Amino acid sequence: MNIAVIGTGYVGLVSGICYAELGNTVICVDKDPFKISTLQNGGIPIYEPGLEELSAKNVAAGRLSYTSDLQAAVREAELVIIAVGTPPLPSGEADLAYIDAAALEIAEALPAGAIVAVKSTVPVGTNERVRDLIRSRTDAPFSSVSLPEFLREGSAIRDTMEPDRVVIGSESREAAEKVAELHRPLTDKIMITDLRSAELLKYASNAFLATKISLINEIANICEKVGADVTQVAEGMGFDRRIGPAFLQAGIGYGGSCFPKDTRALIQIAGHVEYDFKLLRSVVEVNREQRFNVIRKLETIFGGELRGKTVAVWGLSFKPNTDDVRESPALEIMRHLVDVGVHVRAYDPVATPNFRSAFGDKGVVWCEGALEAAAGADALCLLTEWEEFAGADLRQLQSVMSRPILIDGRNVFREEDLAGTAFIYYSIGRPSLNQGVREKIPILQY
Ligand code: UDX
Repeated sequence: MNIAVIGTGYVGLVSGICYAELGNTVICVDKDPFKISTLQNGGIPIYEPGLEELSAKNVAAGRLSYTSDLQAAVREAELVIIAVGTPPLPSGEADLAYIDAAALEIAEALPAGAIVAVKSTVPVGTNERVRDLIRSRTDAPFSSVSLPEFLREGSAIRDTMEPDRVVIGSESREAAEKVAELHRPLTDKIMITDLRSAELLKYASNAFLATKISLINEIANICEKVGADVTQVAEGMGFDRRIGPAFLQAGIGYGGSCFPKDTRALIQIAGHVEYDFKLLRSVVEVNREQRFNVIRKLETIFGGELRGKTVAVWGLSFKPNTDDVRESPALEIMRHLVDVGVHVRAYDPVATPNFRSAFGDKGVVWCEGALEAAAGADALCLLTEWEEFAGADLRQLQSVMSRPILIDGRNVFREEDLAGTAFIYYSIGRPSLNQGVREKIPILQY
């Protein structure tokens, strides 16, 4: 199939490269000339394991190319995929300006019989809006398809090549079948729905996963008070096939470009039809508060006085294996620390440059290595579960710190890791692992 993908963000780029890998002829379009020249020169503007190699392979095979000329790309296409950003407006609603602009430009060059599919996560009704916008500009017959994307950053290629399901929303059975055929090599689980159901299904899936995370985080908070262990509770829950083990890892809450944005957008979508989505509002609220779990623990240890302390932070991206810092819990946690007069020493294996541009430099020393960040610190907060941190030698870590205080916001360390160390250790919802604070929460006077 000849495919044009509009937008080379995570979704567009990964999908485009994977469609080429399946043997299709793909042209990826972006209006940002810097991105396009990076891609044309063999680079990848995002951090995603394996993507650069896969792009190079398909470019070399003549199946994949990059351009900023949208109309030229669309003119040859049987399938045009819109994968531009839908960033949140201040109200939480998705901003559809890029979608509208793409639709209008596509209309100028759309060949008769083409299919236009929206992969961006968009409010219910957007595919119809795109269809009508294009129709207002061209007489060429075409079909509209909603093609929601479920890939995760960090495992985007696998998620795309081995999806749990492919959802195709369409008004035309024929168009849906063509798009289904394209995905047949990936999975048997292809579901064809109407346009609105496909759009809502994507938000509902993310809302459900966010709900699972907030639920387990609240269970973790209760575990801390009643002396239970959230990892054991979650494991036992996960054996129930109705619940499943995934997305029950307690921590400092979800971040990223999807869950925070999509949960707020769904609350807005519901609001538009005068439905108060109370459950989801609570999920968002719980997630916001959960970040401060780490701060509360630091305050407890230091008797409420954080000013003047040096705190090391390990992990800045919203999750491991990505340099994405959008809505990363580390942003708010570090903002609070800096605001109350803490000296922060921060390290992340890949996300520091992105984090610095989002956060600024005030109050922070950016470090090149994990031990360098910990050197001389009064406490260390682990905020992202990069594999590198799980393998850290805690005795060595203790030897470089001023005070052995470790707040593990992602439950990375096990009892064995702590053996032989004098760390005051807190994690999330695992009070039995609290070290140096087993019986009661200590107040340290300095
Ligand atoms: C998510 C969805 O999983 C994906 O289907 C959708 O297309 C885009 O949004 P992504 O944001 O890349 O993908 O990351 P994901 O792995 O889902 O993690 C999201 C956040 O939840 C991260 O901050 C992660 O740390 C957190 N999380 C995840 C938990 O706190 N606990 C868990 O058990 C799982």
